[in-house]
Amino acid sequence: MRKSVATQGLSTPLKGEIITPPDKSMSHRSLIIGSLTKGKIKISNFLTGADCLATLEILKELGCEIEFLDKNTVILNAKNAYTAPKKELYCGNSGTTIRLMAGLLCAQNFKSTLSGDISLSKRPMKRIIAPLSLMGAKLKSNEGKAPLVIEQGELNGIEYKSPIASAQVKSAILLAGLQTPNGKTTVLEPSLSRNHTERMLQFFGSDIETFTKDGLFGVTIGQSSLIPKDLNVVGDISSAAFIMVATSIVKNSDVILKNIGLNPTRTGLIDVMKRMKANINILNCDLVSNEEVGDIRIQYSPDMEGCKISGNDIPRLIDELPIIVLLATQAKGTTTIKDAGDLKNKESDRIASVTRELRKFGAKIEPTDDGFIIEGKNSGNGLFNKEAEVECYHDHRIAMMGYIAALINQKPCKINDFEWVETSFPNFLNIFENLKK
Ligand code: S3P
Repeated sequence: MRKSVATQGLSTPLKGEIITPPDKSMSHRSLIIGSLTKGKIKISNFLTGADCLATLEILKELGCEIEFLDKNTVILNAKNAYTAPKKELYCGNSGTTIRLMAGLLCAQNFKSTLSGDISLSKRPMKRIIAPLSLMGAKLKSNEGKAPLVIEQGELNGIEYKSPIASAQVKSAILLAGLQTPNGKTTVLEPSLSRNHTERMLQFFGSDIETFTKDGLFGVTIGQSSLIPKDLNVVGDISSAAFIMVATSIVKNSDVILKNIGLNPTRTGLIDVMKRMKANINILNCDLVSNEEVGDIRIQYSPDMEGCKISGNDIPRLIDELPIIVLLATQAKGTTTIKDAGDLKNKESDRIASVTRELRKFGAKIEPTDDGFIIEGKNSGNGLFNKEAEVECYHDHRIAMMGYIAALINQKPCKINDFEWVETSFPNFLNIFENLKK
C-alpha cells in the first residue's frame, strides 16, 4: 500500500528521552554470522525492519531454525549447515543481505539464486563478484546486477586490495574466507569501512586479525569454528541521525537518545556535528557484545557553521549524508562534501535524489560528481518556506530526510511512499509524535 504523509513546520520543540531502533548492520550480521556457529543463540534488540526480515526469511529457507521470543528477541538454533533452497532467495531492498549472503552461499554444496526489488536489481554486484570469483566462487549475474546465481566452487584464500571502502564487499569476502579450507584470506581497503563483521567474528572467537599496512586497512581471516554466544544489538546511529539533526535545527529542542552504537567506524556524524559547533554530548559509555555504546544528548544549535567533509570521513558517515546535506542548509556558510561518489550506488542515486528533493524546499545545493556544495543560511533562521511534495525513490533515508526537512518548512508538505521507512526505522512516526508532545 502506498502511504503519503502530510506534515507542516513545527511550532513546538522536540523534547524527550527516547530509544531508537536497533542497528541494521549488526542485526543482519547477528543472524548471518550467528548461523555459522553451532548452538542456541539469543539475539536481543534485533531490528524487525524489512531489510533484516529479508535476511531472516532467507536463512529460514536455507533450513535455519529461527524463532521470535518477543518482538525484538530472536532465538537462533545454529547448526553451521544449510539446506538447498526450494525457491529464489528474495533480498528485497537490502544490499547488505544480497552481498553478505553471496559470501556465505558460495561455499555451499548447492545452487541458489539471490534476487531483489527494482532498486536492488539496479545496484552494482561486480564489486563482490570479482573478489569472490578470484577465490574460486561460481557466480553468475545479469550483467553485473542481481539476480545472482551461485553454485559450489572450490574456494582458495586470496589477498584482495579493494578499490573502494565497502563493508559489504569486505564482509562478503570474509564470510567466504571463513569457510575456505585452502589458505587464509586478506582484504585491504583504502579507508576503514564499518567493522561490525570483524568485531562480531572476534566476539564468536574466529581466527581473525586486523592491521594497517602502507596506509591501507587490512583484515585476515582463516577457516575456524565459531563459538555460539548470546548477543545484544546496540541502537542504530544511522537511524538516530535523523533525530539528532532534527533536534539541532528545530528551535528550543533537547533530546537524549539512549543506547546508541558508538563504534568509531560509524560516528562520523558526531565528529561532523562537533566540527559544525552543534550542541552535542556523549554520556554513559559502555561496551556491549564487542561494540561501543552510549547515550547522546543533542540540543537546538542555532550557531552551527558549515564545514568540509571528505576522505576518511566518508565511510564513517556514508548513510548519514542525506541528512547531513539537510543539516548543512541550516548552518552558516558553505559546506563541501567530496569523495562520496558511491552515493550513486545506494538505494537511490543519493547525489541526485537528495539534491532534487531538498531543492523543492528552496535549499541551495549544487551536486558534484562525488558530493555536494551546500550554501547554508546567511543570517537569521534558515527555515524553508515552500509547498513541497517529496518522492523517495524506494529509499528509506530519502523519505526520512524529507520528513525532517518538512519540520522546518513553514508551508504544507507531503512525503509520498512513506512506507519505505519500514526498511530501517519501523516506528519513525511514533517516535516523532512522542517527541512533539
Ligand atoms: C552496510 C555497508 C554500507 C552502508 C549500508 C550498510 C553494511 O554499504 O551504506 O547501508 O551493513 O555493511 P557499502 O558497503 O556499500 O559502503
